[in-house]
Amino acid sequence: MQILDGKLVSQATKDLLAQKVTELKALGKKTPHLAAILVGNSGASETYVASKVKSCAEIGYNSTLLRFDEQISEKHLLDNIQLLNENPDIDGILVQLPLPKHINEELVINTIDPTKDVDGFHPMNVGKMVSGLPTYVPATPYGIMLMLEHYNIDTKGKHAVVIGRSHIVGTPMSILLSRNTKPGNCTVTLCHSQTKNLKELCLQADIIVAAIGRPDYVTADMVKEGAIIIDVGINRVADASKKSGFRLVGDVKFDEVAPKCSFITPVPGGVGPMTIAALLKNTYHASIGEKEHLN
Ligand code: GUN
Repeated sequence: MQILDGKLVSQATKDLLAQKVTELKALGKKTPHLAAILVGNSGASETYVASKVKSCAEIGYNSTLLRFDEQISEKHLLDNIQLLNENPDIDGILVQLPLPKHINEELVINTIDPTKDVDGFHPMNVGKMVSGLPTYVPATPYGIMLMLEHYNIDTKGKHAVVIGRSHIVGTPMSILLSRNTKPGNCTVTLCHSQTKNLKELCLQADIIVAAIGRPDYVTADMVKEGAIIIDVGINRVADASKKSGFRLVGDVKFDEVAPKCSFITPVPGGVGPMTIAALLKNTYHASIGEKEHLN
């Protein structure tokens, strides 16, 4: 069993990007600039956004964090996105999800200029991704593809079971793994809350991507010997022994599943850091006016 070390791969990606930023600056070109919008004060969202902003500084990007109260009106939020759209110094815009219930998430995503949509959530970018055209690919599935590529994992012809059909992870992941790319070329089964024979399907999987948001959901009896396990879950579980009062666990019961696998991502330190590396890659491409192409 080999651990897929997201921290290590993310750092390698960030080192490369830092070098590219140094080159851009030496040529008198603009510094990549990411704007992040955070609404409310959910602990998890705060942590993710803080980590994204910190990573920008580490590799020499500029970043702007706009924080708004939970009660912000939809109009005020949309007006602020419009200002970022019109600001030529801003290359990438991300609005941390989820948003409060009174705000229409779809409208917010549709308001982001698709050329600055480094999360790859705008329907125009989703459409391009589905068509196999160069575009911004959502950061978590993109990060997973980068990790599979880094470890030179052969995915061709394998059966991948993706658990979870969110727009952020499961749906784009299923598309990327099924494409004629390397990594890619999988036969993909996309499972969700209405899937009847989930355990049977998982037992047939060469690759499982768990993105359901339920702690320890995938257990050893659901996993075939030698499977590749990608754990997207970052769940907070109460733990009085921790200063924070919680610990992070994935969607996979790591201790019992790991001995059966060929490769597995840990939580924390697996997919999480790769999401950030992928976002930074998208932002670099936004800054130089180019889109990543996975082919
Ligand atoms: N919430 C959970 N994951 C993500 C992500 O990748 N981007 C944004 N904007 N919000 C998220």
